[in-house]
Amino acid sequence: MIPNTATLLQLAYGRFAVGAFSINSIEQILGAFRGAAMAAAPLIIQISRRARQYAGPGVLEAAVHAAARLFPEILFALHLDHGDEQSCYDAIESAFYSSVMIDASQRSFEENIATTRRVVERAHARGLSVEAELGRLSGKEDDIAVDQSMAFLTDADQAAEFVERSGCDALAVAVGTGHGLHKFAGTGQLHLERLIQIQQRLPGFPLVLHGASSIPSEEIARINAAGGAVAPDAQGFPETMYLLAAQRGVAKINIDTDGRLIWARVMREHLRDHPAEIDLREPGRVFVAEYAQRVAHLCQCFGCAGRLAEVRRQLGWG
Ligand code: G3H
Ligand code: 13P
Ligand code: ZN
Repeated sequence: MIPNTATLLQLAYGRFAVGAFSINSIEQILGAFRGAAMAAAPLIIQISRRARQYAGPGVLEAAVHAAARLFPEILFALHLDHGDEQSCYDAIESAFYSSVMIDASQRSFEENIATTRRVVERAHARGLSVEAELGRLSGKEDDIAVDQSMAFLTDADQAAEFVERSGCDALAVAVGTGHGLHKFAGTGQLHLERLIQIQQRLPGFPLVLHGASSIPSEEIARINAAGGAVAPDAQGFPETMYLLAAQRGVAKINIDTDGRLIWARVMREHLRDHPAEIDLREPGRVFVAEYAQRVAHLCQCFGCAGRLAEVRRQLGWG
């Protein structure tokens, strides 16, 4: 594990983005490592505050470190996703993590800066980096569903002031995407011009794209053909635009919903086709293989596939 995610993001900056895959189970952990190995890509594994609550603090983290021993060639960072102040401090003290995200984007500008600043001080003292968020994405985040009308884009001037005063190492920006199944529900489109403005005000500073899952329409169709009722009007982030975003300063791309769709499709099809099956390891094996394929494919789209040897050399890992 690399101890500081920002180091990895700086190497990627302007050339490619590193995929940050949200995990909740050992199958996702194994699939993420296998996918990164297939793509020969550096990897960020992220655990959300709610995933930590689900599994119990330290459980998923220990599993990530155990799985990493099966993939000794893979260079990875472990990141806390959408943390609040307390979960950031817990993660920093646990020594499992490379970075934390403090998400105080629901608070006022001044409170967001002050909260982020406190987390930065604690994280930097332990050698971890900090991602913060400015602006508001639509969709579901933690327990809060952000209505379309409440979503707003990150302001470029505010972003520059925020980074300067908070001392954060990476910034999640709202440029039109949303969490969950409807990427552009709030704003109708990706606001590339806003991303360019932010990059111009923060040259060389790593930006993070949340709500970036590609939502393959065939996954939705297969889930629904196997008895599901997942939004047929779901809309993903266009795969051809990932690299464009990377060239505009996005060095980390967050993927959660794509993994959930694969889980739902594999489980529904497996149980439909094997009605006498009760062993969770059978669909589990299928999931690991399918998720690994998706991770590898997304790494290709992000431009980070084939970069493993180069990044290892740059970090002095031989
Ligand atoms: O960024 C939002 C995540 O995709 C939601 O994850 O349900 O684990 O909080 P969560
Ligand atoms: P998706 O819902 O698009 O996968 O977004 C994931 C994310 O931003 C996790 O922080
Ligand atoms: Zn997010």
